[in-house]
Amino acid sequence: PVAFGLLVLALTGGTVAGVRLGPKVLPSLSRRRLLALALTFTGVALLATGLVPDMATMLLTAALAGTGAGVAANTGHTLLDLEAEEYRRPRLTDHLHAVVRAVIGLAAVAAPLLAAAIGPHRVESGKFVFAHGGAAFVLMLVGALLLPVAALVLAKTDDRSGVPLRHDLRDAVRGDEPTAAPAANGFFIALEGGDGAGKSTQAEALAEWIRAKGHEVVLTREPGATPVGKRLRSILLDVSSAGLSHRAEALLYAADRAEHVDTVVRPALERGAVVISDRYIDSSVAYQGAGRDLSPTEVARISRWATNGLVPHLTVLLDVSPETARERFTEAPDRLESEPAEFHARVRSGFLTLAASDPGRYLVVDAGQEPEAVTTVVRHRLDQMLPLSEAELKAREEARRKAEEDARRRAEEEAARKAEEERLERERQEELARLRAEEEERQRRELEEAQRR
Ligand code: TYD
Repeated sequence: PVAFGLLVLALTGGTVAGVRLGPKVLPSLSRRRLLALALTFTGVALLATGLVPDMATMLLTAALAGTGAGVAANTGHTLLDLEAEEYRRPRLTDHLHAVVRAVIGLAAVAAPLLAAAIGPHRVESGKFVFAHGGAAFVLMLVGALLLPVAALVLAKTDDRSGVPLRHDLRDAVRGDEPTAAPAANGFFIALEGGDGAGKSTQAEALAEWIRAKGHEVVLTREPGATPVGKRLRSILLDVSSAGLSHRAEALLYAADRAEHVDTVVRPALERGAVVISDRYIDSSVAYQGAGRDLSPTEVARISRWATNGLVPHLTVLLDVSPETARERFTEAPDRLESEPAEFHARVRSGFLTLAASDPGRYLVVDAGQEPEAVTTVVRHRLDQMLPLSEAELKAREEARRKAEEDARRRAEEEAARKAEEERLERERQEELARLRAEEEERQRRELEEAQRR
């Protein structure tokens, strides 16, 4: 009974830990790939749990299996939300979660029955003895079944085909950004969020701060950062374009983006500048995908094509409730701002889902706070991510040289002081020796005097 209790504890405790760990595990790895890996891990751990005869090892493998299952559950949950969002069936998520729960419940009842039906078996061949109860066989069976499931998940849902899993995994373990990451030299930040989230204020504050570090900063926006973009923007936002077909709207935003990336963003990144874009691909996915009736994946695909796969190093999502945002509007609302509240609620959840699917590349900030507080949060994250500017590198080099110089000077001073001390000590010893000799001489003379007397 104790062993059984511990086994259950290891499995359930592991699962709880896994669910909590889920979002933090290899944050830069694609969630779809993580799901497949977590399933494989769980499968192998379950196989091992069934195979090993030793209790302590079994508890360890059971805890590992639990953790893997927890991570898989958490990741699967996030991905299910994403899928449901994609097919625009609000109840689909509930539905899928209910199915998953039913399957798990069924398995909890069926597994012990199956274990009882299999019963204990003993295989002996020479020195090799294999004696296990039905439960061990069931665990092994489930573990073995998980492996093809993992392979199927990877084959069906992989969103990074073309990039070997090995490379992705290596990058993720090292904490690097995924390999297909953006243009080389510069640093690309996208600011996203609903209307009235305070993106422009934050963009300016960040630009000023990054400039002060010595970087070239290009502050830009979508739609309308280029001459063609300006014309597209006026078509898109003019209230007289009401009734514009949704696909046309998506394509116009993508056209603006293509021109923007080609003529502004990429050249700046190639120069090594920091580019801050007020809105990027996620706005299309959230507004045209989640907000309208288009598939977010398709909208994202169009943008990916338009930008030739340029992904920001960091996307800052300024999250605020549409009600709070509305209070901030000062001008007459444009075509999109005039959309009903439900539209903006969908846009918001679209943004949040995107952020949840790739925690390594997103920073979600509560934009209901004071603007300064928001800037501080973003600055904190950028401090860890931004490469050093030429000026900072130079300052660092300077500081290093100065520290070396100081250390050398201190060492020299120390050596001189030591030499002086030694000299004084030598003199003191000599003086002492002289006095001692004098004293001896005096005593000798006194002795002689006494003998003479
Ligand atoms: P924005 O420039 O942020 O508006 P404003 O100048 O009023 O602050 O964005 C214009 C609108 O365009 C905004 O309502 C969101 C919408 N939009 C999309 O629907 N899809 C997109 O891809 C982009 C970039 C913006």
